[in-house]
Amino acid sequence: MLRVLFLVFLLASAQSGSLQKEAPPAPHNIFILAGQSNMSARGGVELNATTGFLYWDGILPPECQPNASIFRLDADLKWVQATEPLHDGIDTTLINGVGPGMPFAHEILHLKPDYGTIGLVPCALSGSSIKRWQRGSPLYDRLMRRVNAAVESGGLTPR
Ligand SMILES: *[C@@H]1O[C@H](CO)[C@@H](O)[C@H](O)[C@H]1NC(C)=O
Ligand SMILES: *[C@@H]1O[C@H](CO)[C@@H](O)[C@H](O)[C@H]1NC(C)=O
Ligand SMILES: *[C@@H]1O[C@H](CO)[C@@H](O)[C@H](O)[C@H]1NC(C)=O
Repeated sequence: MLRVLFLVFLLASAQSGSLQKEAPPAPHNIFILAGQSNMSARGGVELNATTGFLYWDGILPPECQPNASIFRLDADLKWVQATEPLHDGIDTTLINGVGPGMPFAHEILHLKPDYGTIGLVPCALSGSSIKRWQRGSPLYDRLMRRVNAAVESGGLTPR
């Protein structure tokens, strides 16, 4: 009798576990990545001489590898685990490769292991002059929309 009860308990707990939704990520420390193509990343972007088109070679140096503590705000304003290219869907003007965002986040985690999770907010646009970032401009508005979305769901340093 006891054995049967135990089995029932196990089944019930397994079920409640699978029904439980995982909490969405809310990174503790938020960094805005804005600027031009050097920020949105052209590392590993090459010209295919046959087609005449640029392509990303897909090579990920160690400092650009995903890490469970590094997130990015994607084009739909959702936190996802950060993977290269960070500006995928955000800087849509050219081909994105690897850039400074991931190495920056890795370096922080390396220097301060108890820093908490990191949320990167890619906002850069290739070839955009500073004039195009003025208050009230489409680029400024998009940056603010992304910043606001980021702090709505993150930015709380762990105690
Ligand atoms: C990136 O920055 C360097 C140094 O300022 C500059 O020479 C280069 O043209 C920039 N690259 C792009 C793709 O704008
Ligand atoms: C260049 O493009 C051609 C045609 O799509 C493809 O067959 C070739 O593998 C590409 N070369 C490189 C280096 O990616
Ligand atoms: C994530 O980064 C931390 C700090 O650099 C490191 O200790 C850890 O091994 C990394 N995890 C993975 C899965 O790379």
